[in-house]
Amino acid sequence: MAPISIPTRTLPDGREMPWLGLGTYPAKGRAAVDAILAAIESGYRLIDTAYNYGNEDAVGTAIRESGLPREEFFVTSKLAGRHQGKPYVREGFSASLERLGLDYVDLYLIHWPLPKVGRYVESYVEMVALQQEGLIRSVGVSNFLDEHITAVVAETGVVPAVDQLQVSPTHAQVDVVNGVARHGTVVQAWSPLERNSGILEHPTVTGIAERLAIAPAQVVLRWLVDRDITSVPASTNPDRQRLNADIFGFALEPADVAAMTAIDVGKPVKQDPRTWEEF
Ligand SMILES: NC(=O)c1ccc[n+]([C@@H]2O[C@H](COP(=O)([O-])OP(=O)(O)OC[C@H]3O[C@@H](n4cnc5c(N)ncnc54)[C@H](OP(=O)(O)O)[C@@H]3O)[C@@H](O)[C@H]2O)c1
Repeated sequence: MAPISIPTRTLPDGREMPWLGLGTYPAKGRAAVDAILAAIESGYRLIDTAYNYGNEDAVGTAIRESGLPREEFFVTSKLAGRHQGKPYVREGFSASLERLGLDYVDLYLIHWPLPKVGRYVESYVEMVALQQEGLIRSVGVSNFLDEHITAVVAETGVVPAVDQLQVSPTHAQVDVVNGVARHGTVVQAWSPLERNSGILEHPTVTGIAERLAIAPAQVVLRWLVDRDITSVPASTNPDRQRLNADIFGFALEPADVAAMTAIDVGKPVKQDPRTWEEF
């Protein structure tokens, strides 16, 4: 089957990032390598990993086994909480690079702001230095709210290229997304399919899917695109990977976008970036 062509989105630093990438958590080892290779065959080029997923080695192996040139890929990894703080950022970043077996990453994110620890601004400064050295192509953040982005921009003048946030129909995050997007930062949704814990059977989702003769997952992922939000859905299944990526030949009507956004009844996210801590 021919690979799917996934369009790119221009980041505030001028670089291009695919609109959709492969989430890799929690796959590890050979199973992860095989899943990533299948996704690459379907046309995925953005691969999302993190120090804390323990699978950066699998991402690097899949890239090498694909036989495609390194520069065709867009590899994202993330700074773990344990590596926040000026003296530790380089240690964490070097460990990721070594596990990946690569000499640069396309996008490096601060995994969580950990505001009570209070080291995300100095960590971001170090990441900007790594970018100037050519080791990180784009500097970004994850789970950052408007106030956290304001703080890093005030210190460095560098707008985060991407903010990876929890966004899905149950957590549409309209205000959070608007607060981040006003900086020019591109929003990227994590857990967009809510880990298949029921949203794909929601009557609003299945109603739109049936009417448009598409899959429920495609309704959810296209709803994000129509809200100007990129995403990294995870699947280890080649058929579902292909289906998830095949959302660029159609768009939802504004009324369907509004109906999808209205699924959110204001239930707060469990992992609130103001208080969530993981290291
Ligand atoms: N920055 C952060 O703090 C953060 C936090 C969490 C996650 N992430 C990233 O975001 C990625 C995605 O989030 P996630 O893995 O939590 O959740 P997700 O992408 O919402 O859901 C993945 C689950 O949905 C299933 N699935 C995928 N496509 C499907 C389809 N078309 N139909 C039915 N089921 C489908 C997958 O099973 P199969 O594999 O069997 O298809 C898998 O169990 C992660 O892998 C990770 O890279 C980042």
